Amino acid sequence: MNRFAVTTAEPSLQQAVQHLASQYLLPTIPITKQENFDFILLLTSQGLSLQNPKKKDWGDLQVDFLKGKIGYRLSHIQSQKQLLAKAIGPKKHLKTNTILDLTAGLGSDGFILAQLGFSVTLLERSPIITALLADGLHRALRHKKYSTINIQLIHRDAMLYLQQLMQTQNLPDIIYLDPMYPPSRKSALAKKEMCFLRQIVGNDSDAETLLPLAITCAQQRVIVKRPRLASALAELKPQHSIVGKQHRFDIYLVTRY
Ligand SMILES: C[S@@+](CC[C@H](N)C(=O)[O-])C[C@H]1O[C@@H](n2cnc3c(N)ncnc32)[C@H](O)[C@@H]1O
Repeated sequence: MNRFAVTTAEPSLQQAVQHLASQYLLPTIPITKQENFDFILLLTSQGLSLQNPKKKDWGDLQVDFLKGKIGYRLSHIQSQKQLLAKAIGPKKHLKTNTILDLTAGLGSDGFILAQLGFSVTLLERSPIITALLADGLHRALRHKKYSTINIQLIHRDAMLYLQQLMQTQNLPDIIYLDPMYPPSRKSALAKKEMCFLRQIVGNDSDAETLLPLAITCAQQRVIVKRPRLASALAELKPQHSIVGKQHRFDIYLVTRY
């Protein structure tokens, strides 16, 4: 079992650290005690980052939509954006434009969808990943470049969220699903990010159970991101697929009467 804690070296950030600790149910520790833990969330005036004190060569992981690797990719991955846009379908044909991303992770796909003009709700069940993503979103949305983007993050298990959603009339137009895949998966996420993610969240082995419920809840379509040559999730055959160099988007169209 990994052991997590949150800490800071800056006295002025102690209160913010306490807040994070109670929000995500993590212990706070003095910075000198980090060697006793597997993963440390470190708060500095530059934001929140994740470190493995026993694997210093991994460096640290921060969600940064403005610069760093994630920011760079967001400005340079036209092909990924085009693939996602194709998977979403022609926006003018959609009655409204809400997307529920059941597996937010480090938020790259959700952020691209929001950049495409959709109103995006992200769900993430890992408290560590949620804390990092919330920090990245907070900094990005204060920047004028992204101030009009419509994106919100909820720390919740998608299965529970969908079960509650079914009791309401407030169903999203599109549901997006990108579960972790067994280790051989090539990912748009850099090696370091995948390495951290896998250590923190594991393999999402329950992803198959999400898809049938997602199809029941979406108003228009469900999109599942898969490795290019993988079988369909839950062996459910999609109506069609958009295939890129590394990934495939399987599309399940929903017809409501
Ligand atoms: C492969 S990552 C998603 C990467 C993301 N698309 C991106 O662009 O960064 C999968 C994420 O989904 C989360 N996840 C898996 N199952 C979930 C569930 N049932 N509810 C909420 N989050 C879930 C995992 O914790 C993990 O962070």
